[in-house]
Amino acid sequence: MLNTQPMFARNQLGVATLGGTPLDALLAAAGCGTPAYLYDLDGVRAAASALGAGLGDGPSLIAFAAKANSAAPVLRALFAEGCGADVVSGAELALVLKVGLSPDKIVFSGVAKRDDEIDRALYAGSSGIYAVQAESIEEIARIAARAASAGRRARVSLRVNPGIAIDTHAHVATGHDEAKFGIARGDLSEAFAAVDAHPSIALVGISSHIGSTQTSTAPYEAAARVLFDIARAREASGAPLEFVDAGGGFGIDYGDGCPASPADFGRSLRSLQRESGASHLRLVVEPGRALVGPYGVLVASVIQPKVSRSSGRRWLMIDAGMNDIIRPALYQARHRIEPLCDDGAARAVVRVVGPICESSDDFGTYELPADPAPAQVVIRDSGAYGFTMASNYNGRPLPAEVFVSGGRVVEVFARGGPDTWIASRLGQPR
Ligand code: LLP
Repeated sequence: MLNTQPMFARNQLGVATLGGTPLDALLAAAGCGTPAYLYDLDGVRAAASALGAGLGDGPSLIAFAAKANSAAPVLRALFAEGCGADVVSGAELALVLKVGLSPDKIVFSGVAKRDDEIDRALYAGSSGIYAVQAESIEEIARIAARAASAGRRARVSLRVNPGIAIDTHAHVATGHDEAKFGIARGDLSEAFAAVDAHPSIALVGISSHIGSTQTSTAPYEAAARVLFDIARAREASGAPLEFVDAGGGFGIDYGDGCPASPADFGRSLRSLQRESGASHLRLVVEPGRALVGPYGVLVASVIQPKVSRSSGRRWLMIDAGMNDIIRPALYQARHRIEPLCDDGAARAVVRVVGPICESSDDFGTYELPADPAPAQVVIRDSGAYGFTMASNYNGRPLPAEVFVSGGRVVEVFARGGPDTWIASRLGQPR
């Protein structure tokens, strides 16, 4: 049974909980220090199931964008809910196969797949993966050549760039004219001709992904209309397709609200599909963040407060930095930061910063208990693009990961301490 506890809450003692259990108890049970990511697997499963319900009846595939969170317990939880995966490298592809996903539930995106990565997709299982998403006319020719030499027919979808700009950070918008992603609409007839010229390619789908953190369904719908139009025109030319993949990008509530839920995106896609007379096609979506973001937290310990005696400026210095979670530094993203234990101490506005020697190692200003400062803080909504973008910068070990289900710790990924990093810089084998 799925845990129905809200994924992040506070108990009567003012202690932050995940899946109903106090975070300090989970950390103690996990036996790991900070910084540490903790994920509520029940929340992840419930999110996938809610999106599935939004997509309703009719064939569909939720291809989880593994780049958002590639930890095996998270992948297992999603695959158990029937999800597939959207992968963007040969390594991600190998990982999801190793975790037990069937090749026919995998789509492979990416603007510059290497030949060996294309080969991996073609050789998976008895007939390759569900679809290699071609992002350029040049890539179609390369996929065709690899398939011909493997003696296989590559299942390919064309990732179209629908020319739709969305209101998001420039770093995560992918569907506008100048983006490197996808095939421009004006190039599509040449792309179709290229596909048709190669007997080693079977064109099975039309895809797009216009970018991340969409908080309304309107741009997603606009892109989907373009996709359905293209699919209909292609089929009218006598070439049947199997699916339309409208991509991911469903936003989450990072504190400022998110009017559209993942299920809303699913519902609007399904209704557009009906309107377009394309109900025979399978609907594929590629959410990453929405399935994992809200169900993960990063817990950090406070190293010390710092107060400027002359200016009165206050900082709260924590043991998690931009190497552990780069979103604030890279996209000026704001994550809610709260004390792990709120004992009612007087609050002050402080700038929360990490230990890294970069001015961008800065989480922004927050009103937090100041006297005394909290021992630990929780950086909320960190389940997506947190650990997967972490690095060893400044010689820092990667953070631990703790997996929670039924309010209990079910798995812990501990990391080596500084010695692991030192060995890697000495060129010593791991
Ligand atoms: N499909 C494709 C082809 C993608 O490139 C992406 C994300 C997704 C699906 C999933 O998007 P999502 O549903 O998670 O928004 N590091 C950034 C996000 C980069 C997203 C890259 N592509 C962040 O931390 O916000």
